[in-house]
Amino acid sequence: MVDFYSPLESMGLPLLRLLDAETAHRLTIQALRAGIVPPPAPAPLERLAVRAFGLRFPSPVGLAAGFDKDAEVPRAMLRVGFGFVEVGTITPKPQAGNPRPRIFRLTQDRAVINRLGFNNKGLEAARARLTALRNDGARAPGGIVAVNIGANRDAADPVQDYATCIRALAPLADLLVLNISSPNTPGLRDLQVGARLDALLAATMAARTQSGATPPVLVKIAPDLTEDEVGTIVDAAISGGAAGLIVGNTTVGLRDALRGPHRNEKGGLSGRPLMARSTEVLAQVYRAAGGRLTLVGTGGVSSGADAYAKIRAGATLVELYTALVYEGTALLARIHAELAELLARDGFSSIAAAIGADHQR
Ligand SMILES: Cc1cc2nc3c(=O)[nH]c(=O)nc-3n(C[C@H](O)[C@H](O)[C@H](O)COP(=O)(O)O)c2cc1C
Repeated sequence: MVDFYSPLESMGLPLLRLLDAETAHRLTIQALRAGIVPPPAPAPLERLAVRAFGLRFPSPVGLAAGFDKDAEVPRAMLRVGFGFVEVGTITPKPQAGNPRPRIFRLTQDRAVINRLGFNNKGLEAARARLTALRNDGARAPGGIVAVNIGANRDAADPVQDYATCIRALAPLADLLVLNISSPNTPGLRDLQVGARLDALLAATMAARTQSGATPPVLVKIAPDLTEDEVGTIVDAAISGGAAGLIVGNTTVGLRDALRGPHRNEKGGLSGRPLMARSTEVLAQVYRAAGGRLTLVGTGGVSSGADAYAKIRAGATLVELYTALVYEGTALLARIHAELAELLARDGFSSIAAAIGADHQR
């Protein structure tokens, strides 16, 4: 849904900004697929590389889920400088999602509200694309692709939808993300409740074994949880065998802080207004996990200082989406430079040294 500023604005297509957000996004994906891609980003400094989940990430900054729902352009997005790309959310069957309009820009707030509802082309289309990507050698060193999965809106048993996706996609994923936090699929977030998360993780691990592959499993949670709920989820994630948590998805709250005319649209809010809240929940997760989970900080990152704040709060990796809408891919080089400067200022020789630093004071 890129606004767009870029990648396309940098190539002389500022008119995209006048289109509705979803049309602009579609045109952007099509252009990227056609090979119209901004110039490759310079390789991030070695100091920004980070090891996590048994992989080496050239940068800790990844593309969050929802930009490339159908795994159409992971290679292009890696090339513009993301350290990894999360594709999806993918559901077993294709689905159209909610009626349009369903993405709203809140430009004054540097935010977006979306109620897409998992529009995607389904498992088979994603499997074909991810297979081609793999055979293409696109997974060059550092070309890490996380696959985010969910349940169809009409699923009789949502847990089975996750299992179906895992059996098909685990062999094609560097990381698997269970999205149980989208506010736009009724009932989905109930899977965050302790006993249901236990059942989901048990089914996940069984399906992963059946797939013959063993990508690490991450659980993506909402930023709207209480600290008690966070504690229960962390326990369930650890005992269920998850390797990490993504904190987090869009929020159904925080509307009072908004100024944009669309502030009361139904859906999930992302972007700048989400930064403080999502970082607070991240810190709670970090404290509860006590080093037993690897965390990805997502929500409102638009600068090196934001990324650094998430890392100090306990994130090993961070992700962004909404800032890309407003600032384009040039944002990445800026974040990398700022992040390197902040590490140096505080005497950290690597990202790893700064993880959770706020908790050690
Ligand atoms: C238009 C849009 C679509 C999204 N779709 C998904 C999705 O399919 N699956 C998912 O897990 N998160 C989805 N997200 C949430 C993002 O991955 C991310 O968690 C959230 O936007 C917070 O990050 P940000 O403030 O950097 O955008 C979507 C966000 C936006 C703005």
